[in-house]
Amino acid sequence: MAALHHGIVESTVWRQERDTQAFAQLLARALLTLQPPGDALIELRGNLGAGKTTLARHLLQALGVTGRIKSPTYAVVETYAVKPAGADLAVAHFDFYRFNDPDEWEEAGFRDLFAAPGLKLVEWPDKAQDRLPTPDLVLDIHSLASEAGHTDCPRQVKMSSFSAKGDALLKGVQ
Ligand SMILES: Nc1ncnc2c1ncn2[C@@H]1O[C@H](COP(=O)(O)OP(=O)(O)O)[C@@H](O)[C@H]1O
Ligand SMILES: [Mg+2]
Repeated sequence: MAALHHGIVESTVWRQERDTQAFAQLLARALLTLQPPGDALIELRGNLGAGKTTLARHLLQALGVTGRIKSPTYAVVETYAVKPAGADLAVAHFDFYRFNDPDEWEEAGFRDLFAAPGLKLVEWPDKAQDRLPTPDLVLDIHSLASEAGHTDCPRQVKMSSFSAKGDALLKGVQ
């Protein structure tokens, strides 16, 4: 049996989207120090409108994705191939909000995507039930909005690591 990993928990605040972008740039840099570069599973948790896709977009841009970055809300997954700092990196950005067909897990190749090296970003991981491997890092984003529909407010972010890779990522974003 694998030893339990005693993860680190940190928190931060993103006052505006520019802070989300700055964090994404630090996280991209930290990801590239992993072996193989960028190989990690990161869960993005938080309510609708918390800023999960926004963080994913800034992270993908920081890793070299150009052009429009679609939210995977309808397709469940959007994949990218990038070459940050010369290294080949496969990225899979999932949103399991609408995932409700258990057969889709095998048929759409999700098992293979999680088994392959590369970066996996996962919104709404709970909707995939227990099919996901243990994440390296969980970012739990909480909007400090007092009124519904008010998007331009600070985000409280809890960051929890569940592996040595996750620890390294958290140290990298400090
Ligand atoms: N740190 C932030 N500060 C202010 N506004 C933000 C911040 N992060 C995201 N937003 C805004 O809030 C909205 C979040 O939407 P989105 O990222 O799609 O949420 P989710 O994927 O969590 O449902 C966007 O309109 C975005 O511009
Ligand atoms: Mg989203």
